[in-house]
Amino acid sequence: MRTCLVTGGAGFIGSNFVRYTLSHYDDVRMVNLDALTYAANPASLDSVRDDPRYEFVHGNICDRALVRRIVDEYRPDYVVNFAAESHVDRSIENPAAFVETNVLGTISLLDAVRDAWASPRASFASTHRYLQVSTDEVYGSLSLDAPREKFHPDSPLDPRSPYSASKASADQFVNAYAETYGLPVNISRCSNNYGPYQHVEKFIPRQVTNLLNGGRGKLFGDGLNVRDWIHVEDHCSAIWAILTRGAPGRTYLVGADCERSNREVLTAILQAMGREPNDFDYVRDRPGHDRRYALDASATRAELGWEPAHRDFLAGLRETIAWYENNSSWWEGEKDKTEAWYEGVGKRGR
Ligand SMILES: NC(=O)c1ccc[n+]([C@@H]2O[C@H](COP(=O)([O-])OP(=O)(O)OC[C@H]3O[C@@H](n4cnc5c(N)ncnc54)[C@H](O)[C@@H]3O)[C@@H](O)[C@H]2O)c1
Repeated sequence: MRTCLVTGGAGFIGSNFVRYTLSHYDDVRMVNLDALTYAANPASLDSVRDDPRYEFVHGNICDRALVRRIVDEYRPDYVVNFAAESHVDRSIENPAAFVETNVLGTISLLDAVRDAWASPRASFASTHRYLQVSTDEVYGSLSLDAPREKFHPDSPLDPRSPYSASKASADQFVNAYAETYGLPVNISRCSNNYGPYQHVEKFIPRQVTNLLNGGRGKLFGDGLNVRDWIHVEDHCSAIWAILTRGAPGRTYLVGADCERSNREVLTAILQAMGREPNDFDYVRDRPGHDRRYALDASATRAELGWEPAHRDFLAGLRETIAWYENNSSWWEGEKDKTEAWYEGVGKRGR
């Protein structure tokens, strides 16, 4: 039995990863350490709660003593760090919280596995792996005028929001621990995820739930900002491939070649939900809003033999809309709070 410690496994991607791994691999035990912030939803893990291979620990990755205790107790073969403050708009309101979890929390995990894995019992065994779940946003923003330009693993880091600055900083520490202590690490940098169980503050669920509640879509700025979309299950399969087949020390890009402007995505949602194409409002743009993300994942595909399974974005979007339609109890409790938060941000002049 292999043991995988995931952090942030009650959030969007982490909960999808826990379910994905337990349903695909019989010989894996999943231990999930999550602080259950506003972004978590314990109901995302209802289907695995009674699985004897699943354990939940309520706690903060910044709690160094707790993290050490968990690593010593469960002796994980793999650690996958999903735990993060993940919303760019919130990072603009409160950058320090992002440094706390995203940077200091990462260092707390790195220190704990460095000590546990380098002990005489197991000196960085080839089976050990720490995977930092990062983002293409660390590379900054591409221009709409150079449509063929994409991010590559070695593109220079150029984070432009407090969120991406904290993620880039954490990545630098992960690489520093690999160089300095020989820690077996990987970094995955993925593009924008969509799919079930995503918090209603994020772009696609926010539009869908506004429309389900009888409201209108909301589009930042001119709506021409481009994101490169991937289904969350494809991100999960890529993480598993990196964890089990990736070369230690390497950074892997994860994407599915699916660039769409926010306006195009909203138009597709409106159409799929039977609404008029102009059933949305333009709202004040996010300050420093990155214009375009696009990444070249060909090296990941070639080296690991990984391929995204969800290639039809419109089909994936329709399934995602249906999931929110059929699971309103999962998101209704957060919807009003989220819209009140956006309204407060607007009133403060952003
Ligand atoms: N969502 C995307 O499109 C995307 C794309 C690329 C990379 N990522 C990265 O993937 C990871 C997961 O993203 P997500 O969208 O699932 O995030 P999310 O906000 O949905 O979930 C974050 C989870 O982390 C937990 N958490 C937060 N602070 C914690 C702490 N101090 N200790 C323990 N747990 C804590 C929360 O309770 C929550 O369950 C993040 O690191 C993010 O940067 C996300």
